[in-house]
Amino acid sequence: MKTVLTRPVAGQKAGTSGLRRQTRDFMVPGFLENYVQSILNGIGGAAGKTFVIGGDGRYFNQEAIQTILRMAAANGAEKMIVGQNGLLSTPAASHLIRLHGTDGGFILSASHNPGGIDADFGLKFNMPNGGPATEAVTDAIFAQTTNISEYYIAEAGDIDLATLGQTSLAAMQISVVDPVADYVALMQTLFDFDEIRVLFAGGFRMTFDAMHAVTGPYAKAVLEDMLGAAPGTVINGTPLPDFGGGHPDPNPIWAHELMGIMTGPGAPDFGAASDGDGDRNMIVGRGAYVTPSDSLAVIAANAHLAPAFADGVVGVARSMPTSGAVDRVAAAKGMDCFETPTGWKFFGSLLDAGKVRLCGEESAGTGADHLREKDGLWAVLIWLNIIAKTGKSVSELMTDHWAAYGRNYYTRHDYEAVESATAATLMQELEDRLPDLAGQGFAGLTVQSADVFAYDDPVDGSRTTGQGIRIRFDKDARAVLRLSGTGTKGATIRLYLERLETRGDKLHLDAQTALAEVIAATDEITGIAARTGRKGPDVRT
Ligand code: G1P
Ligand code: ZN
Repeated sequence: MKTVLTRPVAGQKAGTSGLRRQTRDFMVPGFLENYVQSILNGIGGAAGKTFVIGGDGRYFNQEAIQTILRMAAANGAEKMIVGQNGLLSTPAASHLIRLHGTDGGFILSASHNPGGIDADFGLKFNMPNGGPATEAVTDAIFAQTTNISEYYIAEAGDIDLATLGQTSLAAMQISVVDPVADYVALMQTLFDFDEIRVLFAGGFRMTFDAMHAVTGPYAKAVLEDMLGAAPGTVINGTPLPDFGGGHPDPNPIWAHELMGIMTGPGAPDFGAASDGDGDRNMIVGRGAYVTPSDSLAVIAANAHLAPAFADGVVGVARSMPTSGAVDRVAAAKGMDCFETPTGWKFFGSLLDAGKVRLCGEESAGTGADHLREKDGLWAVLIWLNIIAKTGKSVSELMTDHWAAYGRNYYTRHDYEAVESATAATLMQELEDRLPDLAGQGFAGLTVQSADVFAYDDPVDGSRTTGQGIRIRFDKDARAVLRLSGTGTKGATIRLYLERLETRGDKLHLDAQTALAEVIAATDEITGIAARTGRKGPDVRT
């Protein structure tokens, strides 16, 4: 037992996906310990409990796991299930929590943020259902950080995480497990592996960019070893502590190596990438990038082709800033459709209640009821299953989809590392003006309504407020503004722009061009470029 003399963790509030800070912050003596003790106190203690633990392999992963193991033992945990070498993708961790019916799990990751001593680290606690901690639990953890007075840690050496099998730390059992095997077994129950094998055997070629992050071993096992994709299909497949110096964020900006391959000579038929901890995905055909919002819609429209959804899809959910493409599929196919705040935890309650089977976010997260996290490799496999069953290329699937449902042109503009006070003032002043916006014209569009999104969970009745500003225009256009909850430097303002197009001859425009009016109207309303002192957004996806 140790007494806390300083509280470097005081007031640390977890964002949409756990606590993310610069790695050096996490390494400040006492920071990790105080936060872990705050989690354990916040969930009502660890005595007699079993937890899963693993991370994406970034710098400080194994050291942090060793500390958490010692603390779990000192707090009376009965058992810890650890991924070999400290590795577990977020989806694999979610699966292990559910498979073994544990009391939750610790996932060490800052997702798609860069890794390394001068980059980012993160820790999140997942619930017994396998999903991210609910608001009530993160609030309880937060409250603990402000008044924690001691933490408990066993005095013991490091555990060998390289060797599979059982070991112990004081009275606590530790089981070091293969991080890949159970996850792969789950995927086999969901998809038609035989059909996909036939696809690859027929010469179908793909490139999967693991971005030097955790999905390399998973993707190799599934795509190359089981489905017969050619050796070398998986690139950047060895997890590195600094992800090779890159941002392991699967979008056209950061996955530029893959984009180059997919638009270059001899491009394969299909490309995909996943992020640091394996929950995000990018889907790209030969010369055809699929936005995450469109991907969700295509998956919903074709899900019945995969064995997991042979009985149909009762409902779908998307985060509020995600485009309305999936809404159109749901309406046509009689599926219920839910709009939730950003962050996977809001899907969990709908999934647990059986109200939805598919969900997705514009930020490259897609998933289903097999887990309570988004799942990068799952998204890749359902696309492969759809391609194998339809015999269509990605661009044929997109063309047919837009012809059937219309196209929701979509883009996200991020203004990063904005001074926090500037961002807060901008959002507050805009919020104050919302009641006056309706009926006003901006750059050729008229505002129809404007509000701040609040969400009433239809299952547990909880209300979540302040979830971003929505501005609805005429011409089926929409703009959304919200502050990121996952950034580690200053504030990130996200601007989400969308417009539905159903005219047959206008379905193949460049998105920025198709959205020019919405972009101009939103800039006129918010003055965001001028107020942040930028020429334009830092990132457009
Ligand atoms: C971002 C994404 C959000 C996602 C979260 C965790 O959060 O926008 O959709 O759930 O990462 O992966 P944000 O930084 O916008 O709060
Ligand atoms: Zn992630």
